[in-house]
Amino acid sequence: MTRHPMLVTCGLPYTNGRCHLGHLRTYVPADFYVRFLRRLGEEVVFICGSDNHGTPIVVSAEEEGISPRDLSLRYHQHFADSFSRLSVNFDHFGMTDGETNTRRTQAIVQRLIDRGYVYRKVIQQSYCPKCERFLPDRYVEGICPYCGVPARGDECDQGCGRHLEPGEIKSACCKVCRSPAELREQEHYFFRLSEFKDFLLSYLPDLGGTQIARNYALGWVKEGLHDWCITRTLDWGVKFPGNDNLVVYVWVDAPIGYISFTEEWAENHGKDWKTYWCGDTAPVTHFIGSDIIYHHTIFWPSMLRGAGYGVPQAIVASGMLKVNDQKFSKSRGYVVWTNEDYLDKGLPADYLRYYLLSYTSHTRELNFSWKIFQERVNNEVVGTLGNFIYRTLYFTRKFFVTFPDVPVDGIILAQIRHSTDVMEEAVRGYEFKSAVDALMGLAAYGNTYIQNQAPWQLVKTDQDAAARVIRNCLQLVHALALLMEPVMPESAQRIWEMMGNSDRVDTYPLREALEYPSSRELPAPTPPFVKMEDDRIRDLEKLLKKRVEEAMNKAKKTEEISIDEFGRMDIRIGKILSANRVKGSKKLLVLSIDIGGEERQVVSGIAEFYTVEDLIGKEVAILVNLAPARIFGLESRGMILAAGDKASLLIPLHPVEAGTKIR
Ligand code: 2FM
Ligand code: ZN
Repeated sequence: MTRHPMLVTCGLPYTNGRCHLGHLRTYVPADFYVRFLRRLGEEVVFICGSDNHGTPIVVSAEEEGISPRDLSLRYHQHFADSFSRLSVNFDHFGMTDGETNTRRTQAIVQRLIDRGYVYRKVIQQSYCPKCERFLPDRYVEGICPYCGVPARGDECDQGCGRHLEPGEIKSACCKVCRSPAELREQEHYFFRLSEFKDFLLSYLPDLGGTQIARNYALGWVKEGLHDWCITRTLDWGVKFPGNDNLVVYVWVDAPIGYISFTEEWAENHGKDWKTYWCGDTAPVTHFIGSDIIYHHTIFWPSMLRGAGYGVPQAIVASGMLKVNDQKFSKSRGYVVWTNEDYLDKGLPADYLRYYLLSYTSHTRELNFSWKIFQERVNNEVVGTLGNFIYRTLYFTRKFFVTFPDVPVDGIILAQIRHSTDVMEEAVRGYEFKSAVDALMGLAAYGNTYIQNQAPWQLVKTDQDAAARVIRNCLQLVHALALLMEPVMPESAQRIWEMMGNSDRVDTYPLREALEYPSSRELPAPTPPFVKMEDDRIRDLEKLLKKRVEEAMNKAKKTEEISIDEFGRMDIRIGKILSANRVKGSKKLLVLSIDIGGEERQVVSGIAEFYTVEDLIGKEVAILVNLAPARIFGLESRGMILAAGDKASLLIPLHPVEAGTKIR
């Protein structure tokens, strides 16, 4: 087989928070993928590192009263340790705030400047008059101009998911002191992203990885690309070449980290990083969360192309995470912390790896609950896989001590070959769940086989026949240990040793699954997996419940307002006079509302739930004294009140005159 060097990366975690299940949703499948390809004989380098720049880190460091560098060093080590405890084994884990990345970033930006892809422009930027500073990215909060949902500086993370350029956010206020922000002029540098439209239209259809990443990206390109502001007014970051007052936007130097970390790895291993990054296409696969598809499919390939580097061959985006069927949220308490909630409690990393890989397809939404965790571990890992392995090893030792020296049946080898082929195809298609299902299918096959053949009975009447059955089962266990290594590496090693091996299972290729293990004495087996007991699960559920309650109470407290504050809200009944769709938006309607002697224009995200006819003449509750915002180029003055996912409008029970105040 020809070995093509491949590079696999994972999105770089920001160094301002702890490792949680949301991270693992991407890192565990990436590690599985790398291990599996290696078992197939491919040469794969696995690279990651921490993302140290950008405002989230500066804001968190300010809150803690330490430097962004110290904060980054602390969390960098935290992530490196957490990943290694989960057997997510990167070949190199770098830092974006390092010399290699500074040098590479400045070289790439300089190349873009030299090639005419960067220009200067004076823009209006949010400025806090009280803190006396510009408000880049996370320093500013407000309303998304595209969908009208609350947004933070550079992204609409709770609404349409769009990247927001400096100055774009509406009703902006300072995150630190909450004062309303002003717009002030400042000169920044822009990357000519719009010039990469044709390149992206030819690159994206053939981009490997998951379809969802490709489709989103093509949709965005077709919607139109705007040039991209690539500088920020911050001290922390990589200095913009030729202008020491500005740093590059974190989304410039973070992905460049993928290159810098490859350089660092190559330097340590006597390899050439250019093999990976300097061809026409780069043999690079990026594993990322679905919230950063835009950055990896639009910004990043354009930057690479512009600077004359190879472009990635595949982007693999993972689906979203839920905890107890609720959207994953640190602030609402729907979170599972990798260390505190799991590893530090002595729970096996392999169980969590199994859950994350087998729950659903990589691109679908994954729900985590301790109850389902218990069921899957107990029924599948312990009940099916562990049970078959233990029974086989137990009966071997009881009846034969060593491997019975007889040939393996062809049907068993065919079954192993089939499972291996299914797994390989699934992994190459990023269908990790199907791969794990095939593994468990082989274990289930073994269970049925041993149950039907009942060697514990057979041995009383036909020793040779019993020996053949046990030999077949041992071949299946041997194959299972090899095939499960990418899923549950620690357990695979333990089982490998129970099979009488003293070397490392992860040094063998998968085709070894079909080989005959040589005859050897087996050590006394122990059950390879232990059940998750009910009281353990109850404690873990309690912990999560308590965290959600605490978060709720905290939110209630911070949200409590006085009667005077309530009185400041001018909420009235308004009568809808007209409603029209907003061109270019599926979600927005522009309404004209009689609020009592005055007609108000309000842009509202309810178009998916109501027709224009449904609305005209309706009396609705409207917050009248909300600061005006421009949404999709239209002025919006006020907000209609609605409840639930389907935006059910609050309509008075009895007719009320337009303009009546709600008290
Ligand atoms: O969204 C994030 O968490 C970023 N820190 C990911 C960066 S990935 C890359 F491009 F560097
Ligand atoms: Zn939005």
